[in-house]
Amino acid sequence: MRILNFGSLNLDHTYRVPHIAAPGETMTSQSLEIRPGGKGLNQSVALARAGAEVFHAGLVGVDGDLLRAVCEESGVDTRFICTSDVRSGNAIIQVDDSGQNCIILYPGANRAVDEEFADKVLEFFAAGDYLLLQNEISSLSYIIDKAWEKGMKIILNPSPMDGRLRKCDLEKVWLFILNEVEGEQLSGEKDPDGILRVMRQMYPQAEIVLTLGAQGSLYCNGEWTVRQEIFPVETVDTTGAGDTFTGYFITEYLDSGDPAKALRTAAMASAIAVSAKGAADAVPEIGEVQRRLEEQERYETKR
Ligand code: RIB
Repeated sequence: MRILNFGSLNLDHTYRVPHIAAPGETMTSQSLEIRPGGKGLNQSVALARAGAEVFHAGLVGVDGDLLRAVCEESGVDTRFICTSDVRSGNAIIQVDDSGQNCIILYPGANRAVDEEFADKVLEFFAAGDYLLLQNEISSLSYIIDKAWEKGMKIILNPSPMDGRLRKCDLEKVWLFILNEVEGEQLSGEKDPDGILRVMRQMYPQAEIVLTLGAQGSLYCNGEWTVRQEIFPVETVDTTGAGDTFTGYFITEYLDSGDPAKALRTAAMASAIAVSAKGAADAVPEIGEVQRRLEEQERYETKR
């Protein structure tokens, strides 16, 4: 099955700091690393490393060779990653001693995606193909409408949430994958049960995956809900952990149709991801995820 991920590609400038800068504070960082990122790119890399057939569509600038290269090396089909005359998107990321982060985005080429480019890409896809979107590119509303007309199944990670997303017809979304902050912004509810209840009322057609940080994750399709705990690990860098979760959940869910198995696989993949530095660079290969899941099963059986 084919997945088109129409999404961002960013050069992540990650500054290691003792704590996230406070308003008015000046601080010297411990290090600066420039690595591939962008919610779109990270999720494509995660899909490919999990074993999915994924096409990434998006725009980079002339400075974007590294971004295309990591996709190619990971097994992503890059024929729809094109070069624009706008510089690549980038992110300024602070990562503190506990591995938590804070991100400022410069959209760059990601916001040069226009309807003409979207049409050219979508021409290649048909009913039954999947479309994955986040909210870091332009023309999102148009892409959703056109993909829907074609009969593609739309998966949305509404991140980062902003007013542009509210203009999209989210009734066309088949699967939402979102965290509790985005869930609250969409539903107006704070607690997970409230978020799922209101989102199901707003979008009764949709299945929902809600990630809750240290509290794990939930899947809900209106008839039943599945819960998954996290696998505790030492946190080095949380950047892109949600993207790893998204790519692994989608791959396993589309393959097995089993949301419980997909949540468990995604939870293990993201636990591995937070144990390493970077976003795309920290996405594990499927072999490692399977090995760690087997270890976990042996441990649970012994208990
Ligand atoms: O989700 C993490 C990503 O958010 C980073 O790689 C950064 O580029 C931003 O898009």
